Amino acid sequence: MKQVTGLLGRDALVNQIVQELRKGKHVLLTGPVGIGKSAVLEAALGKLQGRERSFPSEAAPSPDTKPSQPRRALTVVHLHDHQAKGQFVAMARQLLMAGIVKPSALELAQRYDELPPAEIEWAKVKRTVNRLSIRDLTGAIIPALSAHEGRVLMAVDDMTRLTPTQQAFWLAIFNQAQVITCASEKKQGLRKLWWKMKEIPVPPLTPEASADMVRASITQQGVLIESPELYVSHVVKQSGGNPQAIDDMVNDSAKERVVDKRQIREMRHQAGVRYLDFTPVMMVAGALIIGTRYLAIGLGDTELYILAGMAAALFLSLRFFLFKGAGKAN
Ligand SMILES: Nc1ncnc2c1ncn2[C@@H]1O[C@H](COP(=O)(O)OP(=O)(O)OP(=O)(O)O)[C@@H](O)[C@H]1O
Ligand SMILES: [Mg+2]
Repeated sequence: MKQVTGLLGRDALVNQIVQELRKGKHVLLTGPVGIGKSAVLEAALGKLQGRERSFPSEAAPSPDTKPSQPRRALTVVHLHDHQAKGQFVAMARQLLMAGIVKPSALELAQRYDELPPAEIEWAKVKRTVNRLSIRDLTGAIIPALSAHEGRVLMAVDDMTRLTPTQQAFWLAIFNQAQVITCASEKKQGLRKLWWKMKEIPVPPLTPEASADMVRASITQQGVLIESPELYVSHVVKQSGGNPQAIDDMVNDSAKERVVDKRQIREMRHQAGVRYLDFTPVMMVAGALIIGTRYLAIGLGDTELYILAGMAAALFLSLRFFLFKGAGKAN
């Protein structure tokens, strides 16, 4: 969606991320699914690369670049794959093309070592690299990173679902390169990774940015709406500032010929409906009250009996309101 709307309302956040990256920190962007972590990550990389010299993949440094760069050259390796194997193969490929990993280290024929990296045809060497295990790949990558003079930033789209074994490989990478990644959930098993990272939460979009996004999307998609402002405010509220939710809702509306007021009122989105689950609390409270009541009867304690009775009454009336309000948080 940001292709049509641009990245809305994230300037300060992107700046903050770029600052942390410049300090050399490993960065972890957290937030629920669809909140815009990947989009923010990409914007931060764009900003960082706009200022700093870098040679992603084939792009060789142009000869007229001033040699008096105060910082070491930065190579950005951007990994989109969510599977570990795919990530490591992509990493090997990009490091190969940047001339950081030698072809022979990836078990490619010696003659490739003589070629300038830009002339290595990935299609021809792909199968050999794909056959290597993650262990082999890290075995080639780690020493190469360690020997490399410049800085390397690995941007990994998502690490939510790494396994503890893959965590070990990444921990080794962390010592040789800078890493930025996203996670929609910080799994306990991966805490050694999380400890090493500066966490930056990606918050929901502000209502203003959300409204801008809804307006831009409905214009772009040509959605016909009976009452646009009602529509905008409704989508903003239902989405809870989640751009993916806005995207989904506008896409649904685009299927209608015209969106009328009744349809607007009936629109719901999961992301905007945060269920607060009171059930366990209510069960424990209920059991305690009943228990107290029996205790009071058993001990012949009238005061306790009255107290339990009052608590039961309060519980029953409160429950009515709690369950009624428990459905939606906004
Ligand atoms: N600030 C924004 N302005 C406009 N569009 C946005 C913005 N942030 C995200 N989007 C769009 O919303 C969608 C979801 O964003 P994104 O994929 O970055 O979320 P995510 O947090 O990475 O989700 P996941 O956890 O599923 O990986 C994408 O289509 C993206 O282009
Ligand atoms: Mg993502």
